[in-house]
Amino acid sequence: MDKNLEIAALISRAEQDIKNAASVKDLDALRVCLLGKKGELTGMLRSMGSLTPQERPAFGQLINQARDEIEGFLSTREGTLKEKELAERLEQERIDVTLPTQLPRLGTPHPHTLVLNEVIDCFVGLGFEVVEGPEIELDKYNFELLNIPKNHPARDAQDTFYIDENIVLRTHTSPVQARVMLERKPPIRIICPGRVYRADEVDATHSPVFHQIEGLVIDKDVTMADLRGTLGAFARQLYGDNIKTRFRPSYFPFTEPSAEVDLTCIVCKGAGCRVCKDSGWIEVLGAGMVNPKVLEDCGIDSSVYSGFAFGVGVERITMLRYGISDMRWLYEGDERFLRQFS
Ligand code: PHE
Repeated sequence: MDKNLEIAALISRAEQDIKNAASVKDLDALRVCLLGKKGELTGMLRSMGSLTPQERPAFGQLINQARDEIEGFLSTREGTLKEKELAERLEQERIDVTLPTQLPRLGTPHPHTLVLNEVIDCFVGLGFEVVEGPEIELDKYNFELLNIPKNHPARDAQDTFYIDENIVLRTHTSPVQARVMLERKPPIRIICPGRVYRADEVDATHSPVFHQIEGLVIDKDVTMADLRGTLGAFARQLYGDNIKTRFRPSYFPFTEPSAEVDLTCIVCKGAGCRVCKDSGWIEVLGAGMVNPKVLEDCGIDSSVYSGFAFGVGVERITMLRYGISDMRWLYEGDERFLRQFS
């Protein structure tokens, strides 16, 4: 065959093959077949020996043109393929930063918080306001203004942590009563939840740090009946309509008369069980009519105003609410326990 035609045929076949090459790798293989040392074009160059010396320069030029042309096809196709392969790789390796990742595990509200929120809802519904006071408290508020002078035997009952002679870790939330009475004029209707401290050993029902919710109402004509009605509403909110309250006479220096208040035992519904020591009742709070001496010492005219106060143990009512038998569960932070309240 005419060498020129042969070259033209090679070029057009090469063009076609190069266009059809599916990958850079295939293209490299084609390059070797066409232009490599043992490739077709090189083979043709070798056949130059059979030409006359006059024919050789023109033929050599043709081969060189063919090589340039084929190289042109190769590099164009290579560019296209590389672009395509890059696009494919990018698509494959794409990271969607908007895709949601695995969510961090969320905590659950502590049972204490759940009960506290219920209590707050109940009292806010009854028109009470929530206030707080300091945990590091002056003796004056924790004791003196509550009619517990120095050397009063009631101080012993409180196992106080003293910081110095005049500063204590509050042993109850009652000092907030004194602070509010000194600051405000009646009518007063507040609850004060908070942490309190007593030098007690840790056991199933005691802890040196625990929580109380104080309640205080001061107005004209406030009576013991208001106290009973309020605490009844509170008990029903937490434990349902069948719950009963029982007032037993007691003594607190800052209330007169004073009472300890029991609820129907949640466990046995009043029949008597181990939890209530067969009494059918469980003590949950102290309460009483605010002692007129306390009103006067806090600047409130006891001939015009009267009031009631109460102090609830939060751990106690939380344990009753959820049937928790050991107070330590509330402090240990064991997830297996806490997750049950989600
Ligand atoms: N502060 C008392 C205690 O901690 C409880 C109490 C509060 C009693 C208010 C009467 C009135 O034991």
